[in-house]
Amino acid sequence: PNNATIFSMVQPTGKFHLGNHLGATKVWQDLSNLKHPDQKLFFGIADLHALTIPKPNVQEFRLFRNEAIASILAVGVDPQKATVMYQSSISQHSQLYWLLSTLASMGYLNRMTQWKSKSNLKQQALDSSTLGNVKLGLFSYPVLQAADILIYRATHVPVGDDQSQHLELTRYLAEQFNSMYKTDYFPLPKTLLTPTKKILSLSSPNKKMSKSDTNQNSVIYVNDNPNTIAKKIKKAVTDSTVDHFNYDPVNRPGVSNLLNIISGIQRKSIPEVEKDVSHMNNFKDFKNYVTEVIVEELKSPRERFARFMKEPGYLDEVVKRGTEEAQELADKNYKEIAKIVGL
Ligand code: ADP
Ligand code: NA
Repeated sequence: PNNATIFSMVQPTGKFHLGNHLGATKVWQDLSNLKHPDQKLFFGIADLHALTIPKPNVQEFRLFRNEAIASILAVGVDPQKATVMYQSSISQHSQLYWLLSTLASMGYLNRMTQWKSKSNLKQQALDSSTLGNVKLGLFSYPVLQAADILIYRATHVPVGDDQSQHLELTRYLAEQFNSMYKTDYFPLPKTLLTPTKKILSLSSPNKKMSKSDTNQNSVIYVNDNPNTIAKKIKKAVTDSTVDHFNYDPVNRPGVSNLLNIISGIQRKSIPEVEKDVSHMNNFKDFKNYVTEVIVEELKSPRERFARFMKEPGYLDEVVKRGTEEAQELADKNYKEIAKIVGL
């Protein structure tokens, strides 16, 4: 809608990869290109969330924070149209987090799955002895995420499907707040599911491509050069059916992941992509094609990223402007929220 407030964030926990791009930033780019003058777009760097990783490395974290801004601009988000900022610069996120935490039940949070995968725990609800080692910040970060979204009274949140559960919690907390304080202050934000299905690790196509993956060959970074991309695709795990390439995520997860990548980049349906590769009858041709498509997609982001990293003054200016814009709305909204709860 023309009056939508759209909000999304990405964590500065590593270099941006193809999954982040197809699941998030490519969509952000589209949204900023198509922006209606009455829409508001907020794209943030979730640096507070990033601190929930087990062993933060301060030096590296500073670099990743900075690179994250460069990456967002590099993939084509227009800072004239979108507000780009760091989560930590807007203290109202944390203030609203506290108010929402008074409404979030432990049982509900315990059913969320992402923090479990991030702490390498099994995907079940945990008993209190296992829970004992989990840090409060990691356990409760979906509540902060809800605050991130609700402080701007966002109506739409573009995210990959790994985040759907957190959006449900956000709507639940918005409803709890509205009913507790007999108000309709918070809109229930809609999930704008990105058109691309989850991008998987190249070496273990049973888990998602992730910044936290330590195997460099599993992940294609937005600033990988063409040779590196070619090498990684060459090594990508596939299967022994060499003469045709069809989408079958259960039996052919590796091949399906590569088809999904092409589909995400070209914005073509899977059957269309299958048709485009139907004349190929060996992995060499197939993988060369995949490589070409990725190299082409990441060409300008890679060049722009390198340029932006050499212009810290420009990045600082974009963030400064974004922070002021975000601050203004967050401050106004928080004052209204505080009034509603009697603060
Ligand atoms: P990561 O899991 O790599 O740390 P984030 O948690 O910062 O990434 O997620 C940022 C955005 O990127 C979210 O919208 C998320 O849905 C999307 N995303 C992350 N990994 C993938 C993936 N493998 N495939 C598709 N989208 C992804
Ligand atoms: Na994630």
